[in-house]
Amino acid sequence: MVVLSLQRALLLVGAVLPLAQQGLAQTIKNTEGEVIPANDITVAPAAAPPTDPEADPETRQLTDAILANLTAHELSDIDLFHFDNTTGDDASQVAKRTSVGTCKTSPGDMKWPSRLTWGVFNLLTGGALIETVPIGAVCYPNNGVYDAAKCADILENWTQSDTHANDPTSVMSPLYSGETCMPQNGNSSQCTLGGFPSYAVKATGIYQIQLAVNFARKLGLRLIVKNTSHDFLGKSLGSGALSIWTHNLKKIHFHQSVKTPSYSGAALEIGAGVQVGELYEAANKYGVTAVGGECKGVGVSGGYIAGGGHSPLSTKFGLGSDQVLSVDVVLPNGRFVTASETQNTDLFWALRGGGGSTFGVVTAMTVKAHPKLNMAGVTWTISSGNDTANPDSVFWEAMYAYWAKFPEYAEQDVYGYSMIFPRGPGAGYTWTMNPWMVPGMSLADFKAMVQPLFDEWTAIGFEFEPVFFEHDNFYDAWTRHFPVEGVANSNLRTASRLFPRSAWDDVAHRNAMFDEVRSVVDEGSALIQYNMNPAAPAGTPASGANSHWREAIWFGIMGTGWAPGISQTELEAVQRKITDNWMGRLRVYGPGGYLNEGDVMEPDFADAFYGTNYDRLLQIKRRVDPYDLFWAPTAVGSERWRIEGQPDWLTLQTGKLCKVAN
Ligand SMILES: Cc1cc2nc3c(=O)[nH]c(=O)nc-3n(C[C@H](O)[C@H](O)[C@H](O)COP(=O)(O)OP(=O)(O)OC[C@H]3O[C@@H](n4cnc5c(N)ncnc54)[C@H](O)[C@@H]3O)c2cc1C
Ligand SMILES: *[C@@H]1O[C@H](CO)[C@@H](O)[C@H](O)[C@H]1NC(C)=O
Ligand SMILES: *[C@@H]1O[C@H](CO)[C@@H](O)[C@H](O)[C@H]1NC(C)=O
Ligand SMILES: *[C@@H]1O[C@H](CO)[C@@H](O)[C@H](O)[C@H]1NC(C)=O
Ligand SMILES: *[C@@H]1O[C@H](CO)[C@@H](O)[C@H](O)[C@H]1NC(C)=O
Ligand SMILES: *[C@@H]1O[C@H](CO)[C@@H](O)[C@H](O)[C@H]1NC(C)=O
Ligand SMILES: *[C@@H]1O[C@H](CO)[C@@H](O)[C@H](O)[C@H]1NC(C)=O
Repeated sequence: MVVLSLQRALLLVGAVLPLAQQGLAQTIKNTEGEVIPANDITVAPAAAPPTDPEADPETRQLTDAILANLTAHELSDIDLFHFDNTTGDDASQVAKRTSVGTCKTSPGDMKWPSRLTWGVFNLLTGGALIETVPIGAVCYPNNGVYDAAKCADILENWTQSDTHANDPTSVMSPLYSGETCMPQNGNSSQCTLGGFPSYAVKATGIYQIQLAVNFARKLGLRLIVKNTSHDFLGKSLGSGALSIWTHNLKKIHFHQSVKTPSYSGAALEIGAGVQVGELYEAANKYGVTAVGGECKGVGVSGGYIAGGGHSPLSTKFGLGSDQVLSVDVVLPNGRFVTASETQNTDLFWALRGGGGSTFGVVTAMTVKAHPKLNMAGVTWTISSGNDTANPDSVFWEAMYAYWAKFPEYAEQDVYGYSMIFPRGPGAGYTWTMNPWMVPGMSLADFKAMVQPLFDEWTAIGFEFEPVFFEHDNFYDAWTRHFPVEGVANSNLRTASRLFPRSAWDDVAHRNAMFDEVRSVVDEGSALIQYNMNPAAPAGTPASGANSHWREAIWFGIMGTGWAPGISQTELEAVQRKITDNWMGRLRVYGPGGYLNEGDVMEPDFADAFYGTNYDRLLQIKRRVDPYDLFWAPTAVGSERWRIEGQPDWLTLQTGKLCKVAN
């Protein structure tokens, strides 16, 4: 049974310590302004009980009838949770009224909710409001929540993605919070909120998301959405924000047969918080294959699909967003709708690749489930340098021979995922292939495909030891041959490029591109590279996903770190080297980049991250979100706002968000 009784709601309030400790959450103000106890007469949780007891708990919605009921109970502040009913031209007036210089409501502003109002919000959400305590606070001896054992645990598990995904506000790229309250610095600094939001709502039902959306829109609060916080650009952070934490929306349902105008076959219905690992596990259980990223913690229906999403299966089945059959979403006006090929079609187009935190809060998606596939491939680790068998010159000759064959491999549903790390100035390189594989291919065919390259390598004296594998399903290939990626490194930033197939047409142009990539690596950049071509399979409905992806056969992520504590001038120089120098040289060959693994400072992000789809995405954004309720760096429409007090060479999320232009 999922009926949330009032008694339970009030008990839950008790679990939210920071508010409950203040004694505020159990009281409420009536229309006369008197503070009265909150009980089953004065307040009721703001969600309709499900009509069907078997229904997903997360489908419980906020309705006009409930709001009318709450208003009838003469509670204070209920109008802060009303939907916005304006549409079309009326709604665009809302946008016009927001003048340049206006900032999102921040703590200390007149419009910032009182603790009492936060308490009402907490009650309505059934106690789902969490006042932010940064994850590192337990490491600060002068902080009320200091806990040496918990601190040791966090320090030990810091680079594991779950440590951050399971916390309401922690993120995997601490750079953008201003590296505030880092657990490592507990004995030497103060814990402040920095770029962390002020509050988070732990969403387990649609109604909590609707309440948060309405509340933030009415008060002009900065609103962010955090799922797992894998984002590399600081998108799931924001100083003074209210955060909607979708990580706990975990439903997975398998449907044997689904029919849409363009698809007929099996499908999986997944909540917004379902992680890649959970999705693959479920698909394996039902004997099907699902398209997700390579890292197990990344959220499938969250930022991953919203941003397009590349996968080991992308050359065969397209981007993650090409798998989507329908999307459930809470819109900026607070309404909960479904977008598909037959309803809300503009939204359906935009939500598949147009970016996270832009058009609303996605609560669930239905995605295609493909038949089981054979997986054959290879892994290796090869080093070059004067203490190895491979001189650098031979290493690069071998690499160029591999790169030269990318167009022919892309014809073969390839996924070639490898990393090159310089071992230090003049000390050679380490190249890890993890893995190179072709979904659906037998090992014999795979070996035949790679043999010509291996023959070339042998002829030039390149030493390598391939380790081949074969599995009759994707899940085993993925669990056995993919690395676990560490996260939460500070002092590190990455950028990316999508190199189109046409760059190989002219050999001189192609070789100049190889030279430029090599020189960037020589200058200290890592190169995480993917040989794949996520073109949309025939019959896939058009979508807002980056048009540059469709042409790409080589996706490269580059970047570098810097020593902690360097001066602002040195820091600026590193940032400019990545964005202007390295990316400047490579943009000539690959104008596109990938918004989920891109450069937060990408100068023309509209073209790089969205390609020919930007203008239509922006039109849809204006219509659906005339309030600019959703904002994230490099998101569609984000150019209209900026973080106050930031140098233009690094977007930390530590200042106020203010409007710059119309
Ligand atoms: C170790 C690692 C491996 C990766 N591997 C891959 C890969 O193989 N392929 C690939 O394509 N990408 C990969 N990525 C990048 C990944 O796609 C992005 O980081 C993506 O944004 C993660 O989405 P999330 O929901 O997990 O993270 P979050 O940081 O929580 O969210 C990312 C963005 O989406 C928004 N968002 C989240 N949930 C919702 C929602 N319910 N509704 C609306 N907006 C929402 C957030 O506000 C934010 O703007 C990887 C990242 C890491 C750190
Ligand atoms: C919005 O419209 C609904 C349905 O017509 C109505 O019940 C509700 O009161 C309206 N809300 C506001 C804030 O006007
Ligand atoms: C309105 O409140 C009454 C009494 O508190 C309750 O019985 C009824 O179910 C509520 N209606 C809705 C739509 O929540
Ligand atoms: C941290 O790691 C240890 C050892 O790997 C494990 O026992 C513990 O449960 C982890 N803690 C968290 C919070 O993940
Ligand atoms: C802080 O100092 C204490 C006592 O010396 C030590 O046990 C602890 O590990 C230190 N904490 C951190 C985060 O370095
Ligand atoms: C949330 O993160 C998980 C794990 O990365 C992912 O599978 C899911 O799709 C994400 N949800 C959304 C709405 O992005
Ligand atoms: C290898 O090259 C590095 C960097 O140039 C140098 O420091 C080192 O001494 C060399 N080692 C040998 C064995 O030549």
